[in-house]
Amino acid sequence: MNGDEESEVNPSSRQAVRGTGGGPEPIDDYGFEPGAVIDGIAELGLGTRYVGRTLRYLGSTTSTNAVLSVLAAEDEPSGTVVLADGQTEGRGRAGRFWFSPPGRGIWASVLLRADVEAERLAPLSVAASVSIAEALAGLTGLDVRVKWPNDILIDGRKLGGVLVETAQSAGERVSAAAVGIGLNVNLGPEELPEELVGRATSLGAALGRPIARRRVLKIVLVALECCFDRFFAGGIEAFREKWRERSSLLGRRVAVEASGRRTEGTVNGLAPSGALLVETDGGVTEEIWHGDVRLTRAEPG
Ligand code: BTN
Repeated sequence: MNGDEESEVNPSSRQAVRGTGGGPEPIDDYGFEPGAVIDGIAELGLGTRYVGRTLRYLGSTTSTNAVLSVLAAEDEPSGTVVLADGQTEGRGRAGRFWFSPPGRGIWASVLLRADVEAERLAPLSVAASVSIAEALAGLTGLDVRVKWPNDILIDGRKLGGVLVETAQSAGERVSAAAVGIGLNVNLGPEELPEELVGRATSLGAALGRPIARRRVLKIVLVALECCFDRFFAGGIEAFREKWRERSSLLGRRVAVEASGRRTEGTVNGLAPSGALLVETDGGVTEEIWHGDVRLTRAEPG
């Protein structure tokens, strides 16, 4: 099926997790106290240089990206992670609501201090989604795919996404960004709000068994540090080959709506800028910078 193409997984739903009728489900507990400042090296065994060395665990919060943006104005070092058990106002791409119930996923933001033009930072969400997809595939053996620009999918359903927001800037230059990661880990299909049914999945649902969030968090943070290092050394170019291997869109017929304009054609790659390349029926290749991409034709496989 190709249900992912119709909409984002987390559109504006503020419904609570639906009960399963069989009593309370076990919640996967991180084992941290809300409000704790955690040493990621000691507690998670992270082998990173800066990402996750300080982890601020919040229990329930509004949005980890929002909290991190406030911390960015303080003396917080690059790589600090704000981690929530659940979010009440999780933010998705294009102002959408991100469904983030307690105990069911990784809802985290990483502070990235840089001095970079906003335009150069723009494809970071593409690079981060590819890096996370690779890491998750390595951990689970699942066929984890990416959908431009920032979606992470399994079986055509949305598993997660990356939201990079500017936390501090001066003119065209960004000095701090919040790299937000939302991943459905142990979210059962029966817990999804109606509009996400058939469009969202989770690692646990795809594996057929629960998986500890701590394990997933650890590999995601390691993958992100590696991603940041490569991205700042070589830009999106360093991710183009991996993107092709993991893309759910490459070679497929799509329609993209952006700023009142519709482009239809076949996806034929990722531009050196990070834009999506779509070859229209007239044989012209267009660079797509924004918008929601939908498959237009059901294709086998
Ligand atoms: C998307 O729309 O695909 C991106 C979703 C990103 C959600 C994450 S959850 C942690 C962080 N805090 C937020 O409010 N959003 C991001």
